[in-house]
Amino acid sequence: MLKQIELNPEKFPNHIAFIIDGNGRWANKRGLPRSYGHKAGIKACKVVIEECLKLGIKYVSLYGFSTENWNRPKDEIETLFNLFRQFIKTDLKKVLKEDVKFIVSGDYTAFPSDLVEVIEDCLEKTKNNKKMVLNLCINYGGRPEIVRAINNIIKDGIKEVDEKTVASYLYTASIPDPDFIVRTSGENRISNFMLWQCSYAEFYFPKTLWPDFNKRELYKSLDNFSKRNRRFGAIKENK
Ligand code: IPE
Ligand code: IPE
Ligand code: MG
Repeated sequence: MLKQIELNPEKFPNHIAFIIDGNGRWANKRGLPRSYGHKAGIKACKVVIEECLKLGIKYVSLYGFSTENWNRPKDEIETLFNLFRQFIKTDLKKVLKEDVKFIVSGDYTAFPSDLVEVIEDCLEKTKNNKKMVLNLCINYGGRPEIVRAINNIIKDGIKEVDEKTVASYLYTASIPDPDFIVRTSGENRISNFMLWQCSYAEFYFPKTLWPDFNKRELYKSLDNFSKRNRRFGAIKENK
């Protein structure tokens, strides 16, 4: 029998971010096309969002499409757009009824117009929700985000900035930095994710492929986070 994981809600991250990885390998292992892996990946997203909501985690980010993912074959990109559309229209719609606010990091306006419509509808309908914020990172890259921020700062005629100003021009202006970044599939890299915001994040790289990431994997991740000693440059022991 699997050992029960006792969670400590006092040690939950305020903001947990997931770098979704391993969908393609999950499908390959089963002799299936990559699209099956992405489909299974959407299910895992749903489970994670629902569990985080139940646990009372305030901010959840999901990195689902990077600015570099445009380098993939056209049909894979189309599969992903179709899945995003379906996901937002159906799965997410149910979750969002439970007082979840949907926000997007990344230039989603580069997507097909019907997907843009679905996204904007969801943003509008959930803008006053309060229980949790779900930040979907699509067509997102940390460097393009910083460049965009700098250009907007210049456009606004600001001559000198501090950290607060920069942060306020990022997609994540309305949410806190991630405390915990989980990347599945055993790849130990950041792949252009939240380069500014990750300055004091804790990282966790489980080998599990994203479609296999479930409630237990989430609990294991949270348990791992709860044992970290976050010092922020100071000297302090974990209590
Ligand atoms: C993550 O899985 C989904 C996206 C990045 C869109 P991958 O598609 O990167 O799966 P692998 O890394 O090829 O296994
Ligand atoms: C990272 O996954 C991007 C997202 C999760 C959206 P990739 O599979 O695209 O990253 P690399 O290419 O292995 O670094
Ligand atoms: Mg990958």
